[in-house]
Amino acid sequence: MSEEQTTHFGYQTVREEEKAGRVRGVFTSVASRYDVMNDVMSAGIHRLWKDAMMDWLAPRPGQELLDVAGGTGDVSFRFLKRAGHGHATVCDLTEPMLVEGRKRAEAERLGDSLDWVVGDAMALPFPSNSFDVYTISFGIRNVTRPEKALEEAYRVLRPGGRLMVLEFSQIPNDLMQRVYDLYSFNVIPAMGQLIANDRDSYQYLVESIRRFPDQETFLGMVRDAGFENAKYRNLTMGVACLHSGWKL
Ligand SMILES: C[S@@+](CC[C@H](N)C(=O)[O-])C[C@H]1O[C@@H](n2cnc3c(N)ncnc32)[C@H](O)[C@@H]1O
Repeated sequence: MSEEQTTHFGYQTVREEEKAGRVRGVFTSVASRYDVMNDVMSAGIHRLWKDAMMDWLAPRPGQELLDVAGGTGDVSFRFLKRAGHGHATVCDLTEPMLVEGRKRAEAERLGDSLDWVVGDAMALPFPSNSFDVYTISFGIRNVTRPEKALEEAYRVLRPGGRLMVLEFSQIPNDLMQRVYDLYSFNVIPAMGQLIANDRDSYQYLVESIRRFPDQETFLGMVRDAGFENAKYRNLTMGVACLHSGWKL
């Protein structure tokens, strides 16, 4: 296998063209338990992080959101509620995640403000300059080439549009990082086994978190994609991080 043709899937090395299929397998397997697992694994903290994302984003009435790797719709639902009125397109590689999201949208009577589209962050099925806001929450670390996803984000945003990325990150304090690693590598796969009957998917999850670039490196990638005024904010000491940028 030559260097250019391989990538990582957690701690495994796989061929680039294999990765999306493997990622789809993980999320197909966890889709029906995804929301409950998020609450259990993070003790509900992922909700606070998504709320912090909305605080910084400050959605405005009438805005059009593209929520890539949007899964079961958490970010889109929050966006629509904060904006008052607007439209959200949830785009995801894994159809069963969108199916779960659509059920939630119907229960919350938000169906008319949402579209659900199967698609890849690296080749978005949308014309250029068509959205006011692009979000990707806990999605970009699963993408085979995050740089390509950022390029696509830039393309589909209108001039004046905003990018916001929520992702796990690295804790700057070594001791805290070690405590967090102990929790994530020992507890999360075991919980995955217990609740979703799927240890391997949650093993991938914790490994993929450790493989993702740190805050400053990712900030450089956001800037390299063309975004201006790019900044980041750590959440919970850097366990997660928000990156923001503008297409000006
Ligand atoms: C951890 S879930 C995040 C879901 C949701 N955004 C949230 O914050 O709860 C990751 C999602 O990314 C999707 N995904 C992974 N790679 C993708 C890609 N290349 N393009 C689009 N979606 C992708 C998966 O199918 C999955 O639904």
